[in-house]
Amino acid sequence: MAEIVIVSDAGAAGELVADAVSSLITRKADAVLGLATGSTPLAVYRALAARASSLDLRRVSGFALDEYVGLPVSHPESYRSVITREVVEPIGLDPDRVHVPNGNAETIQTAGAAYERAIVAAGGIDLQILGVGTDGHIGFNEPGSSFASLTRVKTLTEQTRRDNARFFDSPDEVPMHCITQGLGTILRAEHLVMLAFGEGKANAVAASVEGPLSAMMPGSAIQLHPHATVVIDEAAASKLKLADYYRYAYAHKPDWQGI
Ligand code: F6R
Repeated sequence: MAEIVIVSDAGAAGELVADAVSSLITRKADAVLGLATGSTPLAVYRALAARASSLDLRRVSGFALDEYVGLPVSHPESYRSVITREVVEPIGLDPDRVHVPNGNAETIQTAGAAYERAIVAAGGIDLQILGVGTDGHIGFNEPGSSFASLTRVKTLTEQTRRDNARFFDSPDEVPMHCITQGLGTILRAEHLVMLAFGEGKANAVAASVEGPLSAMMPGSAIQLHPHATVVIDEAAASKLKLADYYRYAYAHKPDWQGI
């Protein structure tokens, strides 16, 4: 199963995951990072920005998980803009090496396959950072998504559109469609790191980690991965049946192992 690490807060999670990313980049200068957007991974990006000067990031590349369809890339909430503002600029990644699926409606039919080819050409994703939606989505793979799915267009659920309305002036502005790495794409990454904070994520975390494998709970796909780490705060961990065991296992883990 995934390794579950329960931390005090998002800041501690950010430091822990930034440690894993730093050690990856130190041993592999051309590391490929999978980049989630949304609120959850911000602590990781902030912690990485703080240590960027001690890392050689010139050959590091990145692939965002998803993008809205039909939102101009110049829109401040397009994931291209968000990734530039919150990841590329503060951390100092080479913008030419950071990719976001192309949500242009005119070329959308071929954009998924093109993105898959680009990931393969880069050598695959080494470490994929994931958030989880309140309905259990990872990337924008909404409930019902195939575990074998690759990058493609999805329709956002009303719940996800409501959740993301906070980034827009009005709920109606949240696009209805997105292009997202599939669950199959995500499962090809070498290491999955899923983060979640707050009580609002507790059900999705418990169902993803301890529930049955089901397309109805896309986060449960991480149970199929040989190296998945779930980093959560106490509130997000509050519905886990085996929380004490996870704490015990982590406390007795050898220091050299990392996450
Ligand atoms: C974003 C993404 C989504 C988010 C999820 C949680 O690229 O892939 O799966 O991680 O919607 O969003 P936040 O972190 O804003 O709660």
